[in-house]
Parts: sequence; structure tokens; C-alpha cells
Amino acid sequence: MMTAESLPTTMRAAVCREDGHLVLEDLPVPQPQRDEVLVKVTACGVCHSDLHALDGHIAFPRPAVLGHEISGTVAALGPGAGRDGLAVGQPVVGAFLMPCGRCRYCVQGRDDLCEEFFARNRLGGQLFDGTSRLRTTDGETVAMYSMGGLAEYAVVPATAVAPVPEGMELAPAAVLGCAGLTAYGAVRRAADLHPGESVAVVAVGGVGSNVVQLARAFGASEVVAVDVDAEKLAAASRMGATVTVDSRDPDAREQVLAATGGRGVDVASRCSAARRPSSSRCSSSPPAAGWSRSAWAAPARTPRWRSTSWSAAACGSSPTTAPAPGPTCRRSSTSPTVACCATGTW
Ligand SMILES: NC(=O)c1ccc[n+]([C@@H]2O[C@H](COP(=O)([O-])OP(=O)(O)OC[C@H]3O[C@@H](n4cnc5c(N)ncnc54)[C@H](O)[C@@H]3O)[C@@H](O)[C@H]2O)c1
Ligand SMILES: [Zn+2]
Ligand SMILES: [Zn+2]
Repeated sequence: MMTAESLPTTMRAAVCREDGHLVLEDLPVPQPQRDEVLVKVTACGVCHSDLHALDGHIAFPRPAVLGHEISGTVAALGPGAGRDGLAVGQPVVGAFLMPCGRCRYCVQGRDDLCEEFFARNRLGGQLFDGTSRLRTTDGETVAMYSMGGLAEYAVVPATAVAPVPEGMELAPAAVLGCAGLTAYGAVRRAADLHPGESVAVVAVGGVGSNVVQLARAFGASEVVAVDVDAEKLAAASRMGATVTVDSRDPDAREQVLAATGGRGVDVASRCSAARRPSSSRCSSSPPAAGWSRSAWAAPARTPRWRSTSWSAAACGSSPTTAPAPGPTCRRSSTSPTVACCATGTW
């Protein structure tokens, strides 16, 4: 079992100093502070939000270590971090959203809206004390996108560390830290999917493929996977999609309607990283209103409403008036179209 004493002094990390570039650098191994856990990283997924940050589409300080979808083993515990039974050597997953546990949203149980996390980490690359745990060997501060997971070690607040159950492979479990959580929030909370409802999942990448699996797990009758990539569609089939549609097909909308007995789907989940779905046939449909909401994002930073022909067309519904915005993404009384989405906000 590894103890803090046996830790190396430096680690390799993928550091972003300019748009589109990652360079492997040796950084001092970060030290966990009070209520923080040092994780030896086994795997780190690359979420499309990392790519948005890497390309400069999401403003984030530089230099930075991106990566927010990690699994690994506990390498060391800061003071107080063992309170919940966490122990050195334990296999864990780190959640991308690292709640402070103290702000007014956290105490209400809405840690998905944690003010400290969004203000300090997502805007400033810091933890709750206003500093980053990462620096160069010359002492230059390095920002952390969540925990800065594209490194050999990462400091994660204990509030965002979950044990991995025995028998679960550690590397693939990393995806639970963002894509899995986001999809769960979209399906269970935002869409409030009920057994027997039909679902369209527009874009079946990291988040969308998890939405497909969770929709089936929650009893969806039909799960229509829509994408432009044949390999992603084939994978979606293996994961439980009942129908696949290439959204570039001129009759994509008709295919969705055919899959749902002409009714259109009850819930649509848009999980595309595309800012504008310009490559899709759907985007040239007549304008319609859809409802887009990131399941985990703070309202202040989230475009709750988007005018998008994409969502409506993917659902197979006719253009319609958008339902009034609400705190959850539910079936509207005026339209069978509800698009619960994880657009590139974070
Ligand atoms: N909590 C959150 O709010 C949250 C969490 C994770 C990801 N995101 C965002 O969700 C989006 C998706 O992330 P991801 O990691 O799943 O991305 P990904 O790159 O894994 O998947 C994107 C998918 O979109 C498909 N695609 C691209 N253009 C398309 C088009 N025009 N029509 C249909 N499909 C298209 C691709 O083929 C791919 O399968 C990103 O914008 C990301 O920033 C948000
Ligand atoms: Zn992510
Ligand atoms: Zn908080």
C-alpha cells in the first residue's frame, strides 16, 4: 500500500500553454490539503469539454492541466479526508464537478450548482482556497481544470471522490466521472424519463452513448441514436439503441417518425459538441423551438433556451412553440418535443 512517504517528487503532466497544444512536462507531485485526496491516476477520459478548453472555445487560464474524468487509487489523504472511510490504496473515481459542500447550493443538496466550484475552478482553475495545487518546478502556477486529471497524480476534494465497487475494472470506470454523471443527470433528473417513453439521442459520443444505456436501463421503449459517424452508431446499437439514424440522410426526420409509429419521441437528448449542427440535414429544416438544458450546469452560465431546428427535427415533431422554461426538462403540454442536452457550456 502506498503511503505519502513513498510518493515521487515529480510527475508527468500534459500541460496546455497555448490553444490546441499539450506538452508533457515534469511538475512537482501536488500535495493534498485539508479535506483533499491525492489520486494516482489510472485513466483519464478526454471529454469534449476538455477539447473546448484546449481549443480556447471555453475561456480558461493558461498554463493549465486539463482532464476531469479520472479513475485511480488513493495515494495520500489530506487532514480530514479520511472521515468518510477513504483509505490509501483504495480504487476511486473522481467526479468532474467538485462541490465545496458549504455554499448555499451545496447545503440545499444542489451541489450541481456549487458556486465555489464554478467561480473558483471553472473560471479560475483553482480549488476552494483560491489557489491551485499545481505549479511548475520553477514555481509558476498551473491551473487545474477540475482536478487536472491528465497527469500521473491529481488532487481532488474528498467531496468528489467515490469508491469503485469491487469487480469493476478501474480504467473504464473513469468515464463515470463526467460522461456517466452527465448522462445520468440528463436522463434521471432533467428528462425524468419514465418507463415506456421513447427517446432520441442526438450525437452518441461520450455523453450520448451513456444516455443510450441509461435510457434503456430506465425502461425506454425506443432509443433512437442519431449521429454522423457510422462507428458511433454501430457502438450505440451494441449499447442498446433500438434504431440508428445518420442525421445526414435526407429523410432522417422520417426515420425517427417511423421508429415511433409516426408520433415522434417523448424525450430528445442533444449531446453534440457542434455549436451549430450545420452538417446535418436537420439544420436546414424550418426553424423550430427546442428546449436545451445542461443537466449539471449552473443557470447563470447555461443557455436554457436555444432556438434549434435540430432538436425538433431529431425528435420527429413538427415545429412548435417552445414550452415555458422551467427548472426541469419535462414533456411539454404543447409538444412531444423536449430536448435535454449537454451542450458545450462547461
Ligand atoms: N455536464 C455538462 O454539461 C457536460 C458534460 C460533458 C460534456 N458536455 C458537452 O457535451 C458535448 C458532447 O461531449 P462528448 O464528450 O460526449 O463529445 P464526443 O466528442 O465524445 O461526442 C460528440 C459526438 O457528436 C457527434 N457529432 C458531431 N457533429 C454532429 C452532428 N452535426 N450531428 C450529429 N452528431 C454529431 C460525433 O460524431 C460524436 O459521436 C460537448 O459539447 C461537451 O462540452 C457537457
Ligand atoms: Zn466532461
Ligand atoms: Zn458549494
